[in-house]
Amino acid sequence: MIVVETIPALRREIAALRRAGKRIAFVPTMGNLHAGHLKLVQIARQHADVVVASIYVNPLQFGPKEDFGAYPRTPDDDKKALETEKTDLLFMPTDAEMYPRGLDVMTKVEVPALGDILCGQFRPGHFRGVTTVVNRLFSLVQPDVAVFGKKDYQQLMLIKLMVADLGLPIEIVGVDTMREADGLALSSRNNYLSPAERQVAPKLYATLRDVCDRILKEGGVRSGIETDTLHALETAGFRADYLSVRRAADLGEPGPQDKALVILVAAWLGRTRLIDNIEVTV
Ligand code: PAJ
Repeated sequence: MIVVETIPALRREIAALRRAGKRIAFVPTMGNLHAGHLKLVQIARQHADVVVASIYVNPLQFGPKEDFGAYPRTPDDDKKALETEKTDLLFMPTDAEMYPRGLDVMTKVEVPALGDILCGQFRPGHFRGVTTVVNRLFSLVQPDVAVFGKKDYQQLMLIKLMVADLGLPIEIVGVDTMREADGLALSSRNNYLSPAERQVAPKLYATLRDVCDRILKEGGVRSGIETDTLHALETAGFRADYLSVRRAADLGEPGPQDKALVILVAAWLGRTRLIDNIEVTV
């Protein structure tokens, strides 16, 4: 695996791959890689000749009171894991490389409306930080295909909209969420959980499954389902930001005619914010 830290070095490698006629798949990450990230690399390989990954903890997508400083950084382990997955090229830029003119004054990419609901409502500016950095990474890597996890369902939808709006010639592939045996979605933020919180954490997915069963039993989304579920989450020990049943296609409020739905949740366990979602077809 070739590791590059600067844009000129990245451009040289990408140009060589392009000259060789290679189809390039890209997996952007913030590092602290787990099996979910590595699954993205495996899926990426199925879609292209070479796989490029990036590791960059993007300051622009963290709020001032969020965990940017505490976010786990494990570059040596990450490199080994990517090497094992036969990743071809790893881009690990510095802040100066990504935001040479400074965070405040650089061009931003923003997807309105979809970026302002659900997680966007509770993390103002977060998705603008995500689309801005992903757009810049796309410009630098110039992939044919890029792979994202459905674990961050709203993020995946925003990237798809951004690519369509900006006319970028990049295919976006979504990958199912990888979970622990007890159902907890793999996440770098699971590291923050105390042993006691780790015991409670799987109840987030269990609750999503309960909502799913109820929707299937009731043949659709009946009023009260969100409030009942929020109550169940609080009882289990979570402080929920939101739990919402949405249309899978655009995250709009579902009507009786909508069949493909997604149930999304964000909830705090102590100082750790967990997100998860589950798709359901009625
Ligand atoms: P990060 O949280 O490191 O996630 C990188 C990619 O891994 C994302 O596409 C995410 O959805 C996917 N992923 C995380 N946990 C997963 C799981 N349990 N199963 C399957 N896929 C999973 O998401 C980001 O970084 C950043 O916002 C980024 C897109 C890199 C922009 O900074």
